[in-house]
Amino acid sequence: MEEILTVRELTRVYGKGGGVTRALDGVSLSLQPGEYVAVMGPSGSGKTTLLNCISTIDRPTAGSIVIDGQELTRLRGRALAKFRRERLGFIFQDCNLLDTLTAFENIALALSIVHAPAGGIEKRVKDTAQLLGISDCLNKYPYQMSGGQQQRCAAARAIITKPALVLADEPTGALDSRSARMLLDRLEELNRDLGTTILMVTHDAFTASCCRRVVFLQDGQIFQELRRGEEDRRNFFQKIIQVVTRMGGEMADVL
Ligand SMILES: Nc1ncnc2c1ncn2[C@@H]1O[C@H](COP(=O)(O)OP(=O)(O)OP(=O)(O)O)[C@@H](O)[C@H]1O
Ligand SMILES: [Mg+2]
Repeated sequence: MEEILTVRELTRVYGKGGGVTRALDGVSLSLQPGEYVAVMGPSGSGKTTLLNCISTIDRPTAGSIVIDGQELTRLRGRALAKFRRERLGFIFQDCNLLDTLTAFENIALALSIVHAPAGGIEKRVKDTAQLLGISDCLNKYPYQMSGGQQQRCAAARAIITKPALVLADEPTGALDSRSARMLLDRLEELNRDLGTTILMVTHDAFTASCCRRVVFLQDGQIFQELRRGEEDRRNFFQKIIQVVTRMGGEMADVL
């Protein structure tokens, strides 16, 4: 099958002279359509940098990123913006809702940007909000919502356009366990029922165990990969913990 995402020898170096950080150091990774993959690793291992490069927020120093046959590092300006809004969905920890718009408007905006038929927008926003348990928040502005509600609103905005690839950086980070579960269930549904490909950064072994594959980063390089295969979530969770333990103390906070 044609890969939806191919990252080859991706390197991102920050700084110059003495203060150089190799945040990513030759990372290669491919995702088939419909995969659900977690990225784990200690703080500073390059997870966010990897996601930011794939989501075109950041530019790699070297290497290649192909999404759906399109080499991202060659896209510029309007072509890049169009690709981003039509093909990608983002859920980031500081969720970037627009302060002057209500939750409803924030979510609907994603649809109007891709020119969805106006008639269906209200129902789609309401349905998605209900899925994520934020129906009561639709008339609120971001400052009137809790962090978790804002994050679920951002998740609704990311998935409502049914993007080919959803990129999520610690999407459950600010959520209590019930809201986290709700968001994870939605992501799993999105992946299973609509075949949406998801790449998600997480510190949390439970969250990672909901995915089908986990890629571990350390010092900007791939340390190991685990595939869930036919295993149930609990066994997969145990395997993830074993890798985390081998990676050492830095990741002990997930245990
Ligand atoms: N804009 C920047 N300028 C300089 N260094 C940076 C920049 N962004 C990230 N770094 C460095 O690159 C490395 C990787 O950072 P990154 O944010 O990708 O880590 P992470 O794995 O997401 O960590 P965390 O789990 O804490 O979110 C770190 O050493 C970080 O200090
Ligand atoms: Mg990060």
